[in-house]
Amino acid sequence: MRTRRGIAILGSTGSIGKSSLDVISSMNEHGEDYYVTYLVTNKNVDLLYQQVKKYNPIGVVIINEERAKQFQSYLNGEKLNVYSGEAGLAEVMSRGEFDVLISSLVGFAGLRPTLEALRAGKTVALANKETLVVAGEIVNETAREYRANVVPVDSEHSAILQCFTGEDKESIAKLILTASGGPFLNRSKEDLEKVTVEEALNHPNWRMGNKITIDSATLMNKGLEVIEAHYLFDLPPERIEIVVHPQSIIHSMVEFVDGSIKAQLGMPDMKIPIQYALTYPERIRSKYQRIDFGKVSQLTFMRPDVERFPLISLAYEALSQGGTATAVLNAANEASVDLFLRRKIRFTQIADFVRQALESIPTKRLPDIDEIFEADRQARQFVYAETEHSN
Ligand SMILES: NC(=O)c1ccc[n+]([C@@H]2O[C@H](COP(=O)([O-])OP(=O)(O)OC[C@H]3O[C@@H](n4cnc5c(N)ncnc54)[C@H](OP(=O)(O)O)[C@@H]3O)[C@@H](O)[C@H]2O)c1
Repeated sequence: MRTRRGIAILGSTGSIGKSSLDVISSMNEHGEDYYVTYLVTNKNVDLLYQQVKKYNPIGVVIINEERAKQFQSYLNGEKLNVYSGEAGLAEVMSRGEFDVLISSLVGFAGLRPTLEALRAGKTVALANKETLVVAGEIVNETAREYRANVVPVDSEHSAILQCFTGEDKESIAKLILTASGGPFLNRSKEDLEKVTVEEALNHPNWRMGNKITIDSATLMNKGLEVIEAHYLFDLPPERIEIVVHPQSIIHSMVEFVDGSIKAQLGMPDMKIPIQYALTYPERIRSKYQRIDFGKVSQLTFMRPDVERFPLISLAYEALSQGGTATAVLNAANEASVDLFLRRKIRFTQIADFVRQALESIPTKRLPDIDEIFEADRQARQFVYAETEHSN
């Protein structure tokens, strides 16, 4: 039996949030003592209410004020702290009534609350890669200053962390991030012009939220992960490589100076890296599916095609440029994915808009947090204005 640990979840109604709650239940079934302190959501108050009934947290935060009122009407004398809006979220994060924050909001919205939790000196199990993409240096400095920890949840970064364990940093030659290649791995450039939202949302290996599923189809997800890996493991972009591995069994690899490579393998199930982030550096038993090597007939690899998936190169360029370039990259991508999901632009226009935003918006070196917010605002405005213009 371990020490009792309180967990808060940003985005409890999302794909990672729901899996995290399952992991907590499963770990407790195996004799652990995890409990939920706060659940944070945007709008899905019906599911949030079910989660409250099951996990009995101290409180909830609902970003959308109208939905917060709706949620209040569900409560039947239950003792629960209910906060709403960004201000409510900031208050809950800064009070730090949790040992670990699972940061699994989608997009740029995750940055502020994640920083608040780090300032409260807490451990952050980070799924929200956008936080590191837009403000990696500030996140790392904040974690250092407040003696807080960031542990990756993303399966690739969890794999790298597992391969790193017991090794000296000097012995690492490069990181090899694996990518499934998404649903359009074998589509021609011409075909990609015509793909539909439904096709793009049909990922072959992983069931995830809509935004990351589109990022996986454009391969921007891998570009964002290169930036995330740079800030988590302090290696330059030229030592972070991408390899397409359609089976998603090897979650990533580390090559060492002697030519040896360590890989971490597992079934494509986010519950495994979520559990590892919560128990790191230890491991505990889990009930999740094991690899049956009798059924995995082959593991294949290929280089990513940056001609057909240009967002990979744009992500490397933004990382090399530094400053606010990665915030512009991220915001232009978020806005373009939103437009694609609303059927306002074609799939291939996502990369076009990101490229144009990076070319048009001047970047600032060593930005402070306000300058990052300003770069984010400008890039979104640029994409939405360009779309109006072209329609
Ligand atoms: N899904 C995966 O397998 C996976 C794997 C690796 C990394 N990640 C990363 O984890 C993060 C979450 O991904 P996901 O797939 O779980 O997303 P998702 O299913 O779309 O869930 C997003 C969650 O965030 C909440 N939310 C959205 N906007 C918000 C806002 N402005 N303020 C507060 N809450 C907000 C949503 O609440 P409502 O439900 O109320 O709208 C929902 O709970 C992303 O950064 C993604 O890149 C995901």
